[in-house]
Amino acid sequence: MQEINPWGSEDVKDYDKIMKDFGISPFTPLVKKIRNPHYLMKRGIIFGHRDFERILEAIEKKKEFAMMTGLMPSGKFHLGHKLLADQIIYYQQELGAKIFLCVADIEAYNMRLDDLDKLKDIAINEYLINYIALGLKPKSCDFYFQSNRSIAYYKLADMVARKVTFNELKDIYGELSPGKIISVMTQAADILHPQLEEYGGSKPVVVPVGIDQDPHIRLTRDIAARFEKEFKFIPPSSTYHFFMHGIKGGKMSSSDPNSYIALTDTPEDIDRKVKNMLTGGKESVELQRKEGGDPDKCVVFEIYKFHLLKNEEDVKKLYNDCKTGKILCGECKARLKNMLKEFLEEHQKKREKAKDMVHKFVKE
Ligand code: TRP
Ligand code: SF4
Repeated sequence: MQEINPWGSEDVKDYDKIMKDFGISPFTPLVKKIRNPHYLMKRGIIFGHRDFERILEAIEKKKEFAMMTGLMPSGKFHLGHKLLADQIIYYQQELGAKIFLCVADIEAYNMRLDDLDKLKDIAINEYLINYIALGLKPKSCDFYFQSNRSIAYYKLADMVARKVTFNELKDIYGELSPGKIISVMTQAADILHPQLEEYGGSKPVVVPVGIDQDPHIRLTRDIAARFEKEFKFIPPSSTYHFFMHGIKGGKMSSSDPNSYIALTDTPEDIDRKVKNMLTGGKESVELQRKEGGDPDKCVVFEIYKFHLLKNEEDVKKLYNDCKTGKILCGECKARLKNMLKEFLEEHQKKREKAKDMVHKFVKE
């Protein structure tokens, strides 16, 4: 069984196996039930869920629901982070969800970097400004820091302790530390507190995350049920998206600058990074013309599919053109460079404007 470590940086080899082992349902059958599905849903990039039916029902019946998720401030904001940002914005703009967005600065302080000012700076300049530039609006968006929330929230985080046992934590997380335990309790409070009276009471909540966060989701769903006497929590729903691959394979990670495309990268960075990018191409042009490439193993294709191509036909066409050897990697990379540079140039202009909006999200 592949262990899932929420604090590690391992890539996931076999998503199907994890889904089976941990009881995550496939997302694809639900896509047709959504009136305006995001392309990440249509393309199967959001591949799994728990209890998303509850969210579907809220959407259909036009009932209130919330989207809650969190970010651990670390390094540069890259294309992997953009996957989650695109979903947050979709829930806000297209589905009218109330947004709870947590900066996990206490988790980062305990597990990574002991400088809260620096963490705040990263959260704002790397994460928030990119979210705003990508389209996040202040309306119905509760952006908060774990280090600066409310009594009701801290009280809930403390009360979680009664609802879990040490053995249960060991079974889920393996070796424990005080920092890990506090992170787990705090994250349970993050996910559940939108349902406290102080935050509008019980409602369906969806938590979009990478699969590394599923241990927290599983535990929090159990905890929600165990609070039946104290609170009325509806077990939170979740969705899971694939990790992006790094430039040379593995996982795209902010701890390895050679693995990511940052949203602040320069055109020169793009030239260098795309040049080094792992493809599904063959050893020779002749062979690729004859046998075709392998888009399923190609980081170039992944970036087109996850971020750049607007409609489904374009994705299918590129896939087929690659498979049949109609397009070769040189041409494919040249086009990627252009599209990425164009996107980043636009985005970086929007980032400049976004700086004036920060005060609407962060109360001093
Ligand atoms: N642990 C998450 C991470 O490492 C961050 C996080 C904190 C979070 N609270 C959350 C994610 C609540 C989802 C929901 O990225
Ligand atoms: Fe990847 Fe494009 Fe080469 Fe196909 S042609 S393997 S999609 S770079």
